Amino acid sequence: MCGIIGYIGNKDITPLLLDGLQKLEYRGYDSAGICVSDKQQLKTVKAKGKISELAKKVKSKTLNGAIGIAHTRWATHGEPNEANAHPHLDCKQELAIVHNGIIENHQALTELLKKEGHKIKSQTDSEIIAHLVEKFYKNDLEAAVRQALKLIEGAFGLAVIHKDENKIVVARKGSPLIIGVGENEMFIASDIPAILEHTKRVIYLNDNEIAVITQGKYIITNLEGEQINKEVDEIKWNVEQMEKKGFKHFMLKEIMEQPEAIANTLRGRIKDGKVKLTVDFDIQKINRIIITACGTSWHSALIGKHFLESIAQIPAEVDYASEFRYRSPIVSSEDVMVVISQSGETADTLAALREAKVKQAKTLGIVNVVGSTITREVDSGIYLHVGPEIGVASTKAFTSQVVALLLLALYIRQQQGHEIDKDLLKQLDKIPYQINQALKQADNIKEVAAKFVDSKNFLYLGRGLNFPVALEGALKLKEISYIHAEGYPAAEIKHGPIALIDEDMPVVFVATKNNLSQKIISNMQEVKARDGNIIAIVSQDDKEISKLADSIIKVPEVIDELSPIINAIPLQLLAYYIADLKGLDVDKPRNLAKSVTVE
Ligand code: G6P
Repeated sequence: MCGIIGYIGNKDITPLLLDGLQKLEYRGYDSAGICVSDKQQLKTVKAKGKISELAKKVKSKTLNGAIGIAHTRWATHGEPNEANAHPHLDCKQELAIVHNGIIENHQALTELLKKEGHKIKSQTDSEIIAHLVEKFYKNDLEAAVRQALKLIEGAFGLAVIHKDENKIVVARKGSPLIIGVGENEMFIASDIPAILEHTKRVIYLNDNEIAVITQGKYIITNLEGEQINKEVDEIKWNVEQMEKKGFKHFMLKEIMEQPEAIANTLRGRIKDGKVKLTVDFDIQKINRIIITACGTSWHSALIGKHFLESIAQIPAEVDYASEFRYRSPIVSSEDVMVVISQSGETADTLAALREAKVKQAKTLGIVNVVGSTITREVDSGIYLHVGPEIGVASTKAFTSQVVALLLLALYIRQQQGHEIDKDLLKQLDKIPYQINQALKQADNIKEVAAKFVDSKNFLYLGRGLNFPVALEGALKLKEISYIHAEGYPAAEIKHGPIALIDEDMPVVFVATKNNLSQKIISNMQEVKARDGNIIAIVSQDDKEISKLADSIIKVPEVIDELSPIINAIPLQLLAYYIADLKGLDVDKPRNLAKSVTVE
């Protein structure tokens, strides 16, 4: 949510910053801006819309300098326009700030600053930071930022430059920020992709840390000014993983790379009929597992609950992280909180984790992004290892999360001294192959998509483990095609949604073979009787269900536990092709951001 990049060094700064912004565009893309200092003045260019609009404007200006900051915005306060785009400058146009987060007391601060004569030009909460730093500035940018931070309440990832100082001052509370360490050059960024091309050596700032970055050096301190020594981490991702590799969109690439992604999640974790995970607390003492997450990760949590209860025989609850954090949940030291997050930065999930820690729960993270904030705060973790996910709509992270949760349930069962289902383990090991088979339906799915591209509403229905898959299918469609879609447990339609069904309502049934197949068939009959248009995801050799459906998508037959992984694939592709046929920006759907670092 909002992307920041900054650079200090000898490279051609404008293309470097623009390229960095492009790589952060998944974080927000309603406006963008860049500010470069040539040591005499600050030169700023801003544009409404995507980074490409900013790039067009930058072309006609000369923006040379050795220090610069840039920002791509996801609007919280104030509409997306040029005035509200970052960087924001002070009244004298001597210092500039870029900010990711929300300043909660911005109204009170605005009043104060206005009384003191500051002219606030935008509707953002962020601009006041520039004026506050200006208020305190006495030839020492770091000191001024420190004083400003004392007055600010809320969340920030912040970078500040001043025309008279050869440094970038950065601070973090709640919003991610990393320092990239180069050879006689330094970077700051909200996330790794922005700087990966230039350096793989990064330092993750923690909350309440301030860093002063000069060309060859960085000094990190806490709010009290005490120096902190931090390790430099080596990033394992490579630049090729960040590229589309010939695919039209990152989302399609990420859907297609799921066989490999899931193989990576599994790698080294199944050996000699055993599950190998590193969990640093005593599994025997677990009383209950609470899983919290947001968005797609919440859907995988719902599947995880099934696994934990049926395989590990441990009571499991699932909560939206945003709800958990504000409802005085009853949590004890015998509970384990599992947090699921692709990015490892989602503000609500992080807050839920912290709430659970205060209540003494053990914590375990299922996260993709290595080194992200959640991974640094949990007691134990399972990395997904699916590589960078750039498309805003999550795909490979979802299927990988389901795999990780299944591994966790099996691991707990095993550590409790019980036999684990060896056949399930074997099947799980083979799942990348079955995913590959499911992906071969892409052309058929494209044809189905073409039939329904103009539909205004969709219903997605599933039962048991495939109810969350229905929810996920509906979410994918909403996110990228802007078609209204709802997921429901199939049997529940009788209690409301059936009233919506007519010949204009496509109903997607996740109806692969399992012990509930006959029940699903009855639910289909109910839809058919009301002229609903059925799209059915069925097992390869199905004959019965196919007779009821108007469109069929076949997937390889797998055991029930693995069906959510396989069944998610056609639903991802269906949403993708519908959105693409509509000519929409699949990777950057309107109003959404990949990493939601505000509440
Ligand atoms: C945003 C993204 C979703 C994602 C959700 C949770 O809404 O657009 O794709 O599922 O955040 O993100 P996380 O990184 O915590 O899994």
